[in-house]
Amino acid sequence: MLRCQGPANRTNSPAQAVILIGFMGAGKSSVGRALAERLGWGFEDLDERIEQREGKKVFEIFRDSGEAGFRRSEHAALKELLAELRTSPEKVIALGGGAFIHESSAALIKSAKIPTTFLDAGAEELWERCRRQSAEQGIERPLLGSPEGFRKLYEQRRPHYLKASRRQETGGKTVEQIAAELIRALRLGEGRGRQGDNE
Ligand code: S3P
Repeated sequence: MLRCQGPANRTNSPAQAVILIGFMGAGKSSVGRALAERLGWGFEDLDERIEQREGKKVFEIFRDSGEAGFRRSEHAALKELLAELRTSPEKVIALGGGAFIHESSAALIKSAKIPTTFLDAGAEELWERCRRQSAEQGIERPLLGSPEGFRKLYEQRRPHYLKASRRQETGGKTVEQIAAELIRALRLGEGRGRQGDNE
């Protein structure tokens, strides 16, 4: 059983879900999927939930309702997701890059007392990963902007991400390496998934 010692959970109560946070390109969704598979847990991508609730892609929500509209949808989807965790807690959750930054959503996460893990990497590597995902997978990120704007936003946000329960370095590592390191660091037993895997 994981007992979280970070600032998000000072009560030492058992924590079962894992929330991944970090900047665009940090690998929250891909690492989250790999981690959930290893643990035999469910996986939730908050942006996907937002898209399903709204019937639109993230970039369409930004286009039609602006960032403020997107943040309202994000907050509502997060509230719904956190409420569901009370009855089915074994989940790995990937948040979009702004969810931990915007006050009302950050407050929801804090009050849920679920440990948060910051997936960290340098701005250049993150930019490169986003650029590659855009070229190879067509992933459209409304806040990607220019390399300079990207770095500026990264620098503004990083101090907030550092308030997570723990920081996981991802620079130069594969998704599988990061998932394996997280399992060790969070002392999560590997469950029904990936039987026979020694990591
Ligand atoms: C955002 C990041 C995106 C998505 C939205 C806003 C942000 O998710 O939620 O475009 O504010 O950084 P990723 O971090 O998965 O790219």
